[in-house]
Amino acid sequence: MRRPKRQRIVRTGGVALLAALLATSALVFGQGDDVASVGASTGIFTDEQVAAGAEAFEMHCAVCHGAALEGDFGPTLAPLDRFQFSDAPLSRLFDLMRTEMPFSDPGSLETDTYLSILTFILSENGYPSGDEPLSDADEAIARYVLDTPPAE
Ligand code: HEC
Repeated sequence: MRRPKRQRIVRTGGVALLAALLATSALVFGQGDDVASVGASTGIFTDEQVAAGAEAFEMHCAVCHGAALEGDFGPTLAPLDRFQFSDAPLSRLFDLMRTEMPFSDPGSLETDTYLSILTFILSENGYPSGDEPLSDADEAIARYVLDTPPAE
């Protein structure tokens, strides 16, 4: 909705309006940064969660996504599809998992199980563990963004 408006303003050459629009979008993007501002590469889950997630993945996901996440009937999950997930809020990946997976029985797992599987997938994508467990309390997951994992 914003794009056609911006083009019209640019065409009429309304410099003041354009400046106002830029200021507004800076504000909007600034707020967006607050929502998803902490990089997933800062160590947002624990090794214990990854270990539990590896087991649960094996049980519920590996049959379609491969034991090493290489993909089979379902797409590869390591590396994650960057067009969907790079620089996206972690909640995009988490919400997809818990509403659409397992493909055969969507939403059938406990939230904690989805959480641990999420940490396993992150770990397999090169994100490091840290001291605090990942929690979905208070929409915490929406604050994290899938930044570029550190090079190995
Ligand atoms: C019965 C097979 C099957 C099982 C079991 C399964 N998936 Fe999937 N998964 C798929 C298929 C097929 C797709 C692609 C769906 C589509 O594109 O509409 C998919 C897509 C995904 C995606 C999106 C990936 C992308 O690049 O688009 C994620 C993330 C995912 N699955 C995670 C999981 C997790 C986590 C589990 C275990 C809790 C799981 N899946 C279990 C078949 C499966």
